Amino acid sequence: MKEEKKVTMDKILNLCKNRGFVFPGSDIYGGFANTWDFGPIGVELKNNVKRAWWKRFVQESKDTFGVDAAILMNPKVWEASGHVASFGDPKMDCKNCKQRFRADTLIENHSKGSVAAEAMTNEEMEKYIDENNIKCPHCGVKNWTQIRKFNPMFITSRGTLESDADKVYLRPETCQGEYVNFLNIQRSMRAKVPFAIAQIGKSFRNEITPGNFLFRTVEFEQMELQNFCTEETSMDIYSDYKAQALNFVTDLGLAPDHLRYHDHDKLAHYAKAACDIQYLFPIGWQELNGIHHRGIWDLSRHQEYSGKSMLYTDPVTNEKFLPNIIEYSIGADRLVLALLCEAYDEEVLDENDTRVVMHFLPAIAPFKVAVLPLQKKLSDKAREVYALLSKEFMTDYDEVGSIGKRYRREDEIGTPFCVTIDFDTMEDDTVTLRDRDTMQQIRLPISELVSYIQERIKF
Ligand code: GAP
Repeated sequence: MKEEKKVTMDKILNLCKNRGFVFPGSDIYGGFANTWDFGPIGVELKNNVKRAWWKRFVQESKDTFGVDAAILMNPKVWEASGHVASFGDPKMDCKNCKQRFRADTLIENHSKGSVAAEAMTNEEMEKYIDENNIKCPHCGVKNWTQIRKFNPMFITSRGTLESDADKVYLRPETCQGEYVNFLNIQRSMRAKVPFAIAQIGKSFRNEITPGNFLFRTVEFEQMELQNFCTEETSMDIYSDYKAQALNFVTDLGLAPDHLRYHDHDKLAHYAKAACDIQYLFPIGWQELNGIHHRGIWDLSRHQEYSGKSMLYTDPVTNEKFLPNIIEYSIGADRLVLALLCEAYDEEVLDENDTRVVMHFLPAIAPFKVAVLPLQKKLSDKAREVYALLSKEFMTDYDEVGSIGKRYRREDEIGTPFCVTIDFDTMEDDTVTLRDRDTMQQIRLPISELVSYIQERIKF
């Protein structure tokens, strides 16, 4: 369990900063709240996670089509989606230090995820905060304003004038780019219902809550999948997406006992069902992803606001209807955070020796292999091996420090295999290959390295 591994958000954050996973955004200017930059190790990890998602949900799914839609959309999209009128978080200000917080997040953090604040009215949230004496996390004083709504969409302007007519929004979710392309994709790909549209891309929300590192950021990537289906098949597809979403994250390495379904009690007026998968982060149980049965809301609204018919004609019965939508949405950054927490381990080797090791699934590990010459005079041969391996995999190369310290550095970034070049290599073209998790070493011919590693990093 997590507690035994002593994972804390601070430990993960320090490791990330020191080992090149993630740095504070605009670091030399003192940072910029709730923004983070992925470093050389982190960008590999995140790319591998996105690739794994795309492989599972697009490549291996015959009826799913990918898109990469524009971030800036016609502002009418956000009127149709309801974001301009009613997208909003329940915010409270601390009258003492003037910091702003989301009331639902205050409750969820205080209860370590055991209270579902999203099901509460504003009055119920205010009462809970009062009765449970929840204080400002910033100054420790309890002196709250009432709850008010805050629209977290970022506004910018197009062209040279900053008038209302030129106002555009940074998208707060990627899925609208999938809805507005429903007709294009259905026509150009000759897609038949049920089919799905998938997208990975940046979203932006003016989050006012302390972010807890990558958990809640103002700029983040979403991996979203929208299935367009008949009403009759919609509940089966919804259940199937719930199962597939859980399988995906367990296949990536999250432990089943750190995951649970959380069915929503309170639904949006158009929704037929909604469920989160929660993960046991060091800050408690929190949403990792959502699966939503959105009914015909999205297509009917875009039909109304664009004036374009979104009706689908059944090729067999000729019946015309608006498809239902089942959505599966997961944040790439939030998933990376969960995978970092899950992989982190402090392994006691003996009384005086503990190693920090990231047990990533090899398929998502930033580097698949590291090449380490035992001594610098072996570096010519080591560079030859590096050239061979780096054609196939992200390969690290390190010739600085003792071999023990170099193994530890690779353990901390989760490299599954280390290849050591020694004096025997010069004689017989074999190397030592060390396994990150077992620390066992085997001897292998250089000619077998690529296939050995390839076999073990499949997803
Ligand atoms: N299209 C539906 C939608 O956007 P959501 O529950 O608001 O639904 C889906 O977001 C997922 O996006 C969340 O489960 C989470 O993984 C991720 N996410 C949302 N807001 C985020 C934020 N501020 N920072 C990081 N990830 C976020």
